[in-house]
Amino acid sequence: MDAAGKPGGFFITFEGPEGGGKSTQIHRLAAALAEEGYVVWTTREPGGTRLGEMIRPLLLGPQQTRLSPWTEALLFTAARAELVDEVIRPRLQRGEVVLCDRFSDSTLAYQGYGRGLDLKTLQRLQAEATGHLTPDRTLLLNLPVEAGLARIPRNAQDRLDRETIAFHQRVHAGYEQMAAQDPQRWREVDASADPDQVARRILEEALAALRQAGVHPAQRRSA
Ligand code: TMP
Repeated sequence: MDAAGKPGGFFITFEGPEGGGKSTQIHRLAAALAEEGYVVWTTREPGGTRLGEMIRPLLLGPQQTRLSPWTEALLFTAARAELVDEVIRPRLQRGEVVLCDRFSDSTLAYQGYGRGLDLKTLQRLQAEATGHLTPDRTLLLNLPVEAGLARIPRNAQDRLDRETIAFHQRVHAGYEQMAAQDPQRWREVDASADPDQVARRILEEALAALRQAGVHPAQRRSA
């Protein structure tokens, strides 16, 4: 752990509106970093643990028609607390690079900006549930809402994909606001570009962040 009690290793999260290709891109980044010699672990939210994978269909199953906004926020956060405790923190402590498809910022974007729950309360909840774990770098795979939604076939849509355009616009605006407020942590990537180009840009950003933090292949953070 460093002086701030943060584990070693390096924690990168992927965020963004629907249809930005996060899950494909996160696996491409994992493969590219492994080739560079980094020990990489890839996980996703909600999920990544036995409990989290049980919670996932409760939240996303299209047959689940209604949940109160707080039920939704608390279930996403419960899955996250388990993922941090079981997977993310132990791996960071071993000096690994952990890549996570969505994290606390998704709750702020979707349940905060999207559903209108109080942002300060949600932030406090995230801090408590994750033991104050903040990503070292967050990549915002950004694209216009309509373009993203159009990429998801109807039979692959989850419960949240089926929300109104206005909801998704609020989520999108929320992401842009969070990224603008913390430019040290966030990097925006144009997800509407050609996928090979997106992958190259993401790899460049990840390698720059790792080098800047002094995290080298198969080696722990030096700080
Ligand atoms: P996806 O990452 O495969 O797109 O699916 C996850 C969906 O769940 C997506 O619509 C965003 C939503 N979500 C929230 O609303 N809050 C959260 O905290 C997380 C992790 C995801």
